[in-house]
Amino acid sequence: MDGSQVNRYRYLQAQRISGSLGAEITGVDLSRPVDDAVLAEIRAALLDHLVIFFRDQDMTPATLLAFARRFGEIHRHPFIAGMPDYPEVLELAKKPGDKRNFGGDWHTDQMFAPEPALGTMLWAKQVPEAGGDTMFANQYLAYEALSDGMKRMIAGVRGVCVGDKKKGGVSRMANNAATLGSVKTVEPPKDVQTTTAHPLVRTHPETGRKSLYIGGHVHWLEDMTEEESQPLIQYLHQHSYQPAFTCRFRWRKGSLAFWDNRCTQHFAINDYPAETRVMHRVTIRGDRPF
Ligand SMILES: [Fe+2]
Repeated sequence: MDGSQVNRYRYLQAQRISGSLGAEITGVDLSRPVDDAVLAEIRAALLDHLVIFFRDQDMTPATLLAFARRFGEIHRHPFIAGMPDYPEVLELAKKPGDKRNFGGDWHTDQMFAPEPALGTMLWAKQVPEAGGDTMFANQYLAYEALSDGMKRMIAGVRGVCVGDKKKGGVSRMANNAATLGSVKTVEPPKDVQTTTAHPLVRTHPETGRKSLYIGGHVHWLEDMTEEESQPLIQYLHQHSYQPAFTCRFRWRKGSLAFWDNRCTQHFAINDYPAETRVMHRVTIRGDRPF
């Protein structure tokens, strides 16, 4: 969409923030119950833009959760403790002295689960003066940019996604509190599956479009050795977040981002060593990728 198509929606406005994905949405107050007609347009905007941003939203954990529930069931994170009164809401804090941040690599949320997250909502409670931006990458474009030969080669190949570093060697999800600074990690419940194979190319269940489905959770390719898998995983991963596929969002206090994990990756930039950043996150359950 270009500027002339801003009025495709009736109840809200969308302003794209890059050529590849992402739009800032205005005209909606998410702290109050949202009408069904408005909700339908928010859902359409998410499918159109892959990640949508709202500014100056006066959210509480309860209103954030209520808004997220309109899109589906909530997915509890098996490795991160929720807020005491709102176990489905994660408070992700990084404070001065915390070396690592949460989500500081290219990934898509809860890819290790059999039914990974449909979408994630992140609301900014406190942000650094500058820094702490989040980048997003359009995985439809990443897939479409591959050669026909590569598309044929990876069709039907599944990547094994590991959530727990104790099982998967080096992983982004460090399962101990020291490496994640102020984010409190927990042991996953015994009955929750945290290693799952998913297709490298998935079809979006709502748009029908194919996208590359790769991220930091993919450790090896099913039925292949680690040595055979690694070069292809590394190539596809580096290919997936090249600048032309990305956008970068600068947070303000009260900003809310809502992204579609089925066709995007994201990266939380760790460039504010002496400042505090506090975010509230809710994740919506998705279906099994195909
Ligand atoms: Fe994430």
